[in-house]
Amino acid sequence: MSLSKIIAIANQKGGVGKTTTAINLSSALGILEQKVLLIDADPQANATSGLGILSKNLAVSIVNLFQGDTNTERCILDTHSPNLKIIPGSIKLAEIEINNKNPYLKYLKKAIETLRNQFDFIIIDCSPSLGYLTLNSFVAADSILIPVQCEFYALDGLRKLLSTIKSIKKSYNPNLTVEGILMTMYDNQVGHNKHIINEFKITFKDLIFKTIIKRNVSLSEASSFGTSIFDYKINSEGSTNYLNLSREIMNNQTSNKQKHLGKKISQILKDTKEEISIMSTAKERDLDNLKIFSLKDENYEKLIGCTKKEIIVQLGLVYNDIHSNRWMYHITNKVSLFQKNYLYIYFYKNKVIQIKLRRFKLS
Ligand SMILES: Nc1ncnc2c1ncn2[C@@H]1O[C@H](COP(=O)(O)OP(=O)(O)OP(=O)(O)O)[C@@H](O)[C@H]1O
Ligand SMILES: [Mg+2]
Repeated sequence: MSLSKIIAIANQKGGVGKTTTAINLSSALGILEQKVLLIDADPQANATSGLGILSKNLAVSIVNLFQGDTNTERCILDTHSPNLKIIPGSIKLAEIEINNKNPYLKYLKKAIETLRNQFDFIIIDCSPSLGYLTLNSFVAADSILIPVQCEFYALDGLRKLLSTIKSIKKSYNPNLTVEGILMTMYDNQVGHNKHIINEFKITFKDLIFKTIIKRNVSLSEASSFGTSIFDYKINSEGSTNYLNLSREIMNNQTSNKQKHLGKKISQILKDTKEEISIMSTAKERDLDNLKIFSLKDENYEKLIGCTKKEIIVQLGLVYNDIHSNRWMYHITNKVSLFQKNYLYIYFYKNKVIQIKLRRFKLS
């Protein structure tokens, strides 16, 4: 057996589907006859309870790995899912996250290193933070899978996450890559979901997984019953989605897609720098004088002629791509079936040349 692939599932935003993905991706890989270890690196221990294990009563957990326990093997428990084992999480992790005065980022890496030849995949479910535990996971991982919920402000925090990955890569883990961005909880009944996916594809291109995880109530039911989707409802859409995701990841292993993705991160982060420099020049100006407009205003035409910097000061960037010549904003106080609720701003040579109001129909 070759060395295992270690994938950390992370996004500091809460409730985006990290744990649901950790449980069901691990189980799917197991069903496809891969040997899998799931590590629950979140004090909430949702991946542990989601697989029917009560973390309260356990003698060992991931905490042992952070206390320098070298006997990693005794922290590994069996699950009911084929080919899937787990190192359970524990609420005691919260103390480790908080009390770490002299953070040593290699505990997890050292512990997992000894298991590399026993598993095909090691999946780490991270907590919704970029704190000590998550950084330990990034140092230990080969790649990071980023679940993103299809919703407004989905892009918030993503650049911070990518630049954190980049600095860990630089200082600790030169081979770290992004496995992919996974769009989750997609609902084709909601008009803007499709739009958000399209915008993400424009910005992140093939960094987005082909597989999209649909909103499927069976997925949340399954984890509340302490099982994967495959033990709960094998013929559900959620089950198909996660099997497809695991096939895609197994294919990534055999293609040289990874290198390509690494380049893409650098490109995105270059864009980030540009965005920051634009923001700071805008802030140097007198903001009160610049503030001619808010999304509550009616008179959108006032924006004609503004530069991108000025629009950012007025409205923020939200999830618009700084390089795009078409930006879109959600007009929050106008969410109504009969009113226009989206503002489109068209640029030409860095100036607003056209404004359009649109409404997404609920199909
Ligand atoms: N595809 C889906 N369809 C329906 N519900 C989902 C789906 N994915 C996740 N959920 C539900 O959304 C909620 C949040 O999901 P989950 O716990 O996986 O997110 P998380 O990113 O791990 O959260 P946290 O940041 O708190 O760790 C849960 O109730 C889960 O059951
Ligand atoms: Mg979670």
